[in-house]
Amino acid sequence: MTDFAGIKAQFPILDQEIHGHPLVYLDSGATAQKPQTVIDAESAFYETINAGVHRGAHELAARSTVAFEDARAKVAKLVNAGFGEGKDEIVVTAGATAGLNLLATAFGNASQGRGGEAAKRFALGPGDEIVVSKAEHHSVLLSFQELAYRTGATLKWFDLDEYGSIRSDTADSVITERTKVVAITHIGNVTGAITDVAPIVTRAHAVGALVVLDICQSVPHIPVDVKALDVDFACWSGHKMYGPTGVGFLYGRRELLEALPPASFGGSMVELAWMDRPAQYMDPPARFEAGTQPVAQVVAAGVAAEWMMNLGMANIAEHEKTVTRELLKLGDIEGVRLLGRPDMENRIGTVAFDVEGVHPHDVGQFIDSLGIAIRVGHHCAQPIHRHFGLYASNRASTGVYNSPDDARALVDAVSQVRGYFLGK
Ligand SMILES: Cc1ncc(COP(=O)(O)O)c(C=O)c1O
Repeated sequence: MTDFAGIKAQFPILDQEIHGHPLVYLDSGATAQKPQTVIDAESAFYETINAGVHRGAHELAARSTVAFEDARAKVAKLVNAGFGEGKDEIVVTAGATAGLNLLATAFGNASQGRGGEAAKRFALGPGDEIVVSKAEHHSVLLSFQELAYRTGATLKWFDLDEYGSIRSDTADSVITERTKVVAITHIGNVTGAITDVAPIVTRAHAVGALVVLDICQSVPHIPVDVKALDVDFACWSGHKMYGPTGVGFLYGRRELLEALPPASFGGSMVELAWMDRPAQYMDPPARFEAGTQPVAQVVAAGVAAEWMMNLGMANIAEHEKTVTRELLKLGDIEGVRLLGRPDMENRIGTVAFDVEGVHPHDVGQFIDSLGIAIRVGHHCAQPIHRHFGLYASNRASTGVYNSPDDARALVDAVSQVRGYFLGK
């Protein structure tokens, strides 16, 4: 059984005091801290094999290429995607935002006729529909809203229930014969709600629509199997899964990646380039990886993926539940309203809350003065805040290194907030 009690010691950053208190980090939804093994992997890459990949005949370039492709394989295993020559289904991106923009741009390019016959399945125009939800992070909402504006397609969305969960039960009416793309989140970054993806995928595929899943908040916390989810594309970030910043991944079904036109252009993605006709692009994933790759970051993200798999994603999920149960006690404090579900059903340890009469920035500052880090603001998800009748909120979010004691420290701190600011 995994020893989660001792795991914090693997994270050097957590061994410090903030404002005279031991640091309690409850902001992993924004970015996760890095275990020493990931930090070491990135610096070891620079110390020993740093070189560009897939180019150059020298030994360092060969070694860095092997390390880069090994990392891709590890990341693929984490989500059960295909890997290996001719089978790769993982594209390296700069993060979830970059991956989502890549897709929206590529669909836009297909809509303008790029990519030929094979790319027609991605083409959108007036009369077509793109479906998102009101729970989306802006990176999903805006990428696909802009795609709708560019192509003349109509943007539609799933509504949310009282806890801010996507109303998957309305899939049959929201997704119509005109729907071409459905882009939704697997886990809400405000509520921690796990979307019931199956009815959405079933309906989307029945009408021939593609499903893009934002798995940013699920990959670090629960087992994610893109094949079992049966989605067509999925995007996430390295930095939220204990890996480095500046890197992320896009999963695409192999046959779709083979048909999708590229979204950015430059070196390392082209077989043949001429002056007087379009280039002949490489097969995926290289076709989508123009320019010099963040090799050190990808290698370290591969180590992070392996580290998580060694812990066991099911074990991670169980451990974080012990912290989430304590966090939900925030809802018992007078004047505190939880925005997501108050129970453990279909949720992870992302717990947003409002403190009546106290602005989230004041809450965050008071909590910070006790050495506890949470996120305050709209968390790049304004529509869901409007759904709750708010502009901003406070958000605690768990990581593997949190203990129930961390959650208790937050509950204790929040219970002092209204007394401190309002004398209540
Ligand atoms: C659900 C969700 N989607 C997308 C993103 C965007 O991730 P990044 O900023 O790493 O590109 C985030 C980050 O907060 C997120 O929580």
